[in-house]
Amino acid sequence: MTSASEKLPRQPRCILITGGAGFIGSNFVHHWCNNYPEDRVVVLDALTYAGNYKNLAPLAGHKNFRFVQGDICNRPMVEALFKEEPIDTVAHFAAESHVDRSILGPDAFVRTNVVGTFTLLDSFRHHWEHQGALENFRFLHVSTDEVYGSLGPDDAGFSETTPYAPNSPYSASKAGSDHLARAYYHTYGMPTLITNCSNNYGPYHFPEKLIPLMCINILLGKSLPVYGDGQNIRDWLYVEDHCRALDVVINQGQPGETYNIGGNNEVKNIDLVNKLCELMNELAPELPVRPAQELITFVKDRPGHDRRYAIDASKIQTELGWTPAETVEGGLRRTIEWYLTHRDWWQPLLSEEYQAYYQKVYA
Ligand code: NAD
Ligand code: TYD
Repeated sequence: MTSASEKLPRQPRCILITGGAGFIGSNFVHHWCNNYPEDRVVVLDALTYAGNYKNLAPLAGHKNFRFVQGDICNRPMVEALFKEEPIDTVAHFAAESHVDRSILGPDAFVRTNVVGTFTLLDSFRHHWEHQGALENFRFLHVSTDEVYGSLGPDDAGFSETTPYAPNSPYSASKAGSDHLARAYYHTYGMPTLITNCSNNYGPYHFPEKLIPLMCINILLGKSLPVYGDGQNIRDWLYVEDHCRALDVVINQGQPGETYNIGGNNEVKNIDLVNKLCELMNELAPELPVRPAQELITFVKDRPGHDRRYAIDASKIQTELGWTPAETVEGGLRRTIEWYLTHRDWWQPLLSEEYQAYYQKVYA
């Protein structure tokens, strides 16, 4: 007999990770495989420009790991996957994720983020109902703080009850997908969980986003484009801390709930870029331009650019005991070391398609 105080053994899960070849998704796949080697992990990823199978290469051939290249909007394929694999948990990362691309071409954002999320939710609902609507099933929808809009300088950070006010096609499409995930809990009782996180950084971050873009441009001696006056503020969280937060939400979170995740690290863009230059001057053995600060260039602002994001993460801290472990200084050093030692990862990503995108945004 087991006494109430004794911990029952953990039941292995079969987890479907969508977008697992992207930045946060691949960090999460490694986190999950390291921490739960008894679980089966199935990754579904379309390998768009942002997806990279190399991020998962060390897992190839593991008996508990399967990679499927496919689109979350493809319902027959998604349904077949739920039939083939005994999936009880979904961690849904797949998305179009870059604000600047959403301004150039919003169509893909509505398709993947809204229609794709709906396709996954509805296919999972049928699968869950078919299995007897078991209580241990979970659908984690990974979202962003950008759905809450922009804060004034003295406003309190976003909490789980802050009204939605998305300002870009990216954040509006993520807001739509959050509402669908919420509705599936309220209407069907499906055990969905939603997380809204601030800006992540760390290994495997695609070159177009602020931190990798600045690191790579410093290494190449290219100008460092800072939008507008550089006074916009973002909260930064090291990606490993995000993965730990998502782990506790899956394992201990209450279905139907939303959890905000943040690093408590608000930084102005220009201060962040200066810090990256300072660290690069210290850590990079050779730089085409030194000090790297000479490369900083103020460029035309992003249309509709949100001024400030900040997160009130007290709910996940008090209810689930999660707190970020990494400091900005420590996380940036680790990130820079990673880009310095992984040229073979990022150099091929600066493709013709990438250069054409770069021209459109920065010309
Ligand atoms: P990413 O762009 O690096 O990766 C997205 C992944 O999804 C890629 O591997 C891509 O191939 C895949 N994908 C895109 N469309 C697909 C489709 N139709 N079908 C299947 N796969 C598809 O994104 P990321 O930065 O890792 O973000 C992951 C999730 O976390 C997103 O939902 C994003 O909104 C959210 N988020 C990101 C941040 C951040 O700072 N990056 C912060 C908070 C929340
Ligand atoms: P980004 O990494 O695109 O994340 P998000 O827009 O989702 O917060 O950008 C972070 C901040 O950096 C944002 O305020 C826009 C700014 N930024 C620049 O100033 N220059 C750049 O070249 C990029 C890509 C971003």
